[in-house]
Amino acid sequence: MENATLSANLDELFYQPADRFFTSRSHVGLTFDDVTLATQYTEILPKDPHLDIRLADGLTLHIPVISSDMDTVTESRMAIAMALNGGLGLIHYNSSPREQLSEVTRVKNHVHGLIQDPITVSPEQSIGDVIEMITKRKFAFSTFPVVDGTDRLTGLLPGHVVKQRYAKRTVAEALTPRGQVHTIKQAELGADPIARADKFFTDHPGIHKLIVVDGQDRLKGLFTMSDIERISFERSAALKPARDSQFRLLCGAALAPVKQPDGSLDREKYLGQVGHLVDRGVDVVAVSTAHGHSVGVGEMVRAIRGAFPKLPIIAGNVTTAGGVDYLADAGANIIKVGQGPGSICTTRIVAGVGIPQLTALYVAARAAAEKKVAIVADGGITKSGDIVKALTLAQAVVCGGLFAGCPEAPGQIMEINGKVYKQYRGMGSVSAMKAGSAARYGHGAEISKKVAAEGVEALKEVSGSVDSVLAQLIGGIRSGMGYLGARTLEELRAKARYIQVTQAGQREAAPHDIIEVKTGNV
Ligand code: XMP
Repeated sequence: MENATLSANLDELFYQPADRFFTSRSHVGLTFDDVTLATQYTEILPKDPHLDIRLADGLTLHIPVISSDMDTVTESRMAIAMALNGGLGLIHYNSSPREQLSEVTRVKNHVHGLIQDPITVSPEQSIGDVIEMITKRKFAFSTFPVVDGTDRLTGLLPGHVVKQRYAKRTVAEALTPRGQVHTIKQAELGADPIARADKFFTDHPGIHKLIVVDGQDRLKGLFTMSDIERISFERSAALKPARDSQFRLLCGAALAPVKQPDGSLDREKYLGQVGHLVDRGVDVVAVSTAHGHSVGVGEMVRAIRGAFPKLPIIAGNVTTAGGVDYLADAGANIIKVGQGPGSICTTRIVAGVGIPQLTALYVAARAAAEKKVAIVADGGITKSGDIVKALTLAQAVVCGGLFAGCPEAPGQIMEINGKVYKQYRGMGSVSAMKAGSAARYGHGAEISKKVAAEGVEALKEVSGSVDSVLAQLIGGIRSGMGYLGARTLEELRAKARYIQVTQAGQREAAPHDIIEVKTGNV
């Protein structure tokens, strides 16, 4: 018995809960690598934890991960991939308000497995033209719906006639005529289009394509059997997309603090945009700025809350308890925490401000608990272990750099010395501010030489898909929760015990004194 008490006392002395650990270090700013977590008695295996997190009424994610509202990270493709994995994407605002609306609409209308803009061919084209298009655009498929000038379906060009020997013939001569093409009306897809398509393919052996049309027989989409089979497999693998009450994918959108020529906020413009976003089904808006504890951000959040009482609002960024109180009192449900930790940020260097992220998260978390709002940890996350540490204090994380190399991120791929890269730039970099994000950093639309950039332009090596990056990150979170004996994210926050590490400890934490080799491919 005495031994058990001694052990408990020793653990308590060295591995401290958040309150004791951070308050006893109130003179120092700590970030992810400065700290490690103590393991706890566990009965939890990595497969057991639940990663669901409720961020606000009507906004529950199945994984606590959000892709950043940056113009080299989140447009519709990224937001779709995030939501399909159970997370959330925040569509950036470095585009016209109209373009932002269509990006949100693409996410909200996305039906997994339904190709909504299938590549089509016209009856007048030659098969030779089609072959040239396939080669030029590197398509891995050769079956195409055939439509006339008004998008009406006139047939299906099957892959087995797309051959060089028929090059001189027209599509009209080679197509399977409309009457023999299997179609389904858009209105008949119901709440679970995948199950509907799956049943169709089972009922029609040998048919691999199902075309979706509207009431006027205009092409609206295409199901392929291989996609449906892959999705059914994913479903059985317990992948749970983040959806709204109407079974649409979740989507968020960032808002620019739009200013009038006299420098005051253009209330009509930003409230108008929120109204349009809500009409398109947006699930959450983010008032994203470099300094959330400021009069303009407070004003914007208050106005949006007044006009849209039930809409979840993310606001930030802050790193102080006062900042959290201010935004929560203005009406924000979720506060974004992070000033300067981002991989492309130079705010700390340029302006000399910002707080190392774990200390900032602790201070913000304490204030958020009082105000009953959620916080999200934004920036500086480079590995899954950072996410586990962030989730001991925050409800979710926001990542930019980790996703910027994925094919789903916007931007050109470029090759340098045999390696492939994608552009990744800070929203406070000169080029991004010129494209629209200047207001986020308190500047007017005109970027003169006197404006100090607070972000850099960079390249990220092209990575695997969002699915594969998230699989690794989620695997890491699950391991971390297993080590701490946490079945839920709430338990993770309650069970976390911290200890500070020295530089030598940091060296010890990474592979060292070896030559790393990779043999196994997963
Ligand atoms: P990571 O580390 O995930 O960080 O690449 C992404 C986050 O960084 C913030 N951000 C910036 N911060 N200057 C800054 O000081 C910038 O130019 C900049 N651009 C983005 C933002 O919070 C993002 O989610």
